[in-house]
Amino acid sequence: MTPTSTPTLEVVTTTERDAARALADEIAELVADGRRRGRSAVLGLATGRSPLALYEELARRAREGTLDLSDAITFNLDEYLGLPADDPRSFRARMRATLFERVGLREDRTHVPRCDLRTAEAALHAEIYEREIARAGGIDLQVLGIGRNGHIGFNEPGSGRDTRTREVELARETVEDAASAFGGAGGVPRRALTMGIATILEARRLRVLAFGPGKREIVRRTLEEGIGPAVPATFLREHGDARLYVDAAALGARL
Ligand code: GLP
Repeated sequence: MTPTSTPTLEVVTTTERDAARALADEIAELVADGRRRGRSAVLGLATGRSPLALYEELARRAREGTLDLSDAITFNLDEYLGLPADDPRSFRARMRATLFERVGLREDRTHVPRCDLRTAEAALHAEIYEREIARAGGIDLQVLGIGRNGHIGFNEPGSGRDTRTREVELARETVEDAASAFGGAGGVPRRALTMGIATILEARRLRVLAFGPGKREIVRRTLEEGIGPAVPATFLREHGDARLYVDAAALGARL
């Protein structure tokens, strides 16, 4: 791995596989450290393609008996709104299949915003979600991907630095990118619940994953554009312990 850095977002150029190993090591240390101190490690998790190699690595270690994640507590970044509770396309269902069931994480230790709420209920649920994060002692390490338009979680362009968990409307690019999972853009939910930028920046460590040529432009904008709501991922540069894992394809000309 070759570490380089911008002022506050450390960039680690590596392979997707080595990033998964490094991050799995860091998570294993957090879990072990929590156990020594008699508390659960609190992990912030993301959906999308970017963290899948990490979840694969965590599942492998759990299967081989070298990692026990069963006493961790998790909070996912976001969830679609307008789906039935057990919809297989919900982020909750995807997290079960890609991680929770494979590492023996009991459902009551995992938090994913609900997908089956109407607007009035969603606002209260969002408030409770923030309180649950606080009650768990805050998030030790938040895993993140970056959307093509610079969103983090579902904080679309226009999302401010002080936003908290709330209902949002999805941007056109986000709907397009999700189309294949919903049988076309017309089937994609238009609204979602997401942790806010402020919620995300309160996590003690941020670990961001971006691989492949499709991420090149947004990685460049995240690192180079002015910090602000036009590219919400730029706010990651304001965090004191944020690391971006990229491969050579995602870093492009900056290598
Ligand atoms: C999705 C999720 C984000 C995710 C991002 C990138 O819509 N809401 O949490 O990080 O978009 O997804 P991917 O990793 O598939 O590129």
